[in-house]
Amino acid sequence: MITENADKFRPVAPPRIIEDAYTEDQHRCLLDVVRNNGPWQLILAENFKTPEEVIATTSGMLPEGVELTWDMILNPVFRGYLARGGACFYPELEDCYYNSRFLALVREYWGAKYAEPETFLFNIQGPSPIGGPPHLDGTVFRGMTMENTPLWLLLTMAKSCLFRHWQVKKGQVIAWYYKGRIGGGFNCWPDGPRGEPLQISAPLWGRAVVVENEMMFHHGQACGPVAQRKPAGLDISSRFGADPEVADGWRITTGDVVNQKIPAGEMRFLVHWGARLYKDFDEMKVYMDHGDDISADQALNILIDDMRKRGVAFEMPTDPMNDRSFIGLVSQVYDIGGPANIPPDAADEAA
Ligand SMILES: [Fe+2]
Repeated sequence: MITENADKFRPVAPPRIIEDAYTEDQHRCLLDVVRNNGPWQLILAENFKTPEEVIATTSGMLPEGVELTWDMILNPVFRGYLARGGACFYPELEDCYYNSRFLALVREYWGAKYAEPETFLFNIQGPSPIGGPPHLDGTVFRGMTMENTPLWLLLTMAKSCLFRHWQVKKGQVIAWYYKGRIGGGFNCWPDGPRGEPLQISAPLWGRAVVVENEMMFHHGQACGPVAQRKPAGLDISSRFGADPEVADGWRITTGDVVNQKIPAGEMRFLVHWGARLYKDFDEMKVYMDHGDDISADQALNILIDDMRKRGVAFEMPTDPMNDRSFIGLVSQVYDIGGPANIPPDAADEAA
């Protein structure tokens, strides 16, 4: 583990809190899209089909004789996408996505001349446990992105700090709408994982934070009444959508079964808007013309050279991209750990 790298994980600037991220009208349009186009799948369902796959990418170990079930690991947080790259999926949300105010905010945050929107998604949930351990959002590099590179390699590249030259500058405006009284805020570590956490606490109604979440550990706080945070009967096919029986209500369903009804007051809605940034015209041109991309071969060679310099003993794999023990080794060598000082969950008595 390379602990000295951990301290390099600080955002380009401190998180900047803003209010009224979306107008009342925009917020209504966003919720209408969510109500009318759901139900929406679990975040976990985007990447995983079995509980074992989830464990393999996290701690990796289960005590012997324990059979893994979805109940043990499912966090009832659901997600939908509103845009991708240059295209907004819903014309009524175009003013939210091609958002002059947000573009100016991230340009200013980075001190960059140009910005283009690239991500627009939401998380939606009722009462839930904490959003997993603090994490970094996925980094991309010129020439290597989620489209052509496995996640483990992108993560390792980011954590190794050897590829900053190719790292794409990104900025986000993360907004929350949550009227609940128990938890539901955001924890982040702007001074690095060994620094003090910054907590942005609920109630949150249109409050947002301008951040660089690829370089700052963060996670969502637990929210809602403790007894309701683990609805029974969920599996990877569970969905979150409008409750047809309650005008502003929501529900979680699995097939034909209703697992949980969620009143509007307990629903937590997070809207994630993200942009790519370019310091100046030259940097944008290098990006768009692919004038200085990195390839997977180059990246693997840089990692292998670095491991040799560090005296890590390993057998040179014939197919490093698919060699499980090599993948395990590099993930371990470049692991930077994460924050240990996680604030305690808000529980019912705090309400
Ligand atoms: Fe995140």
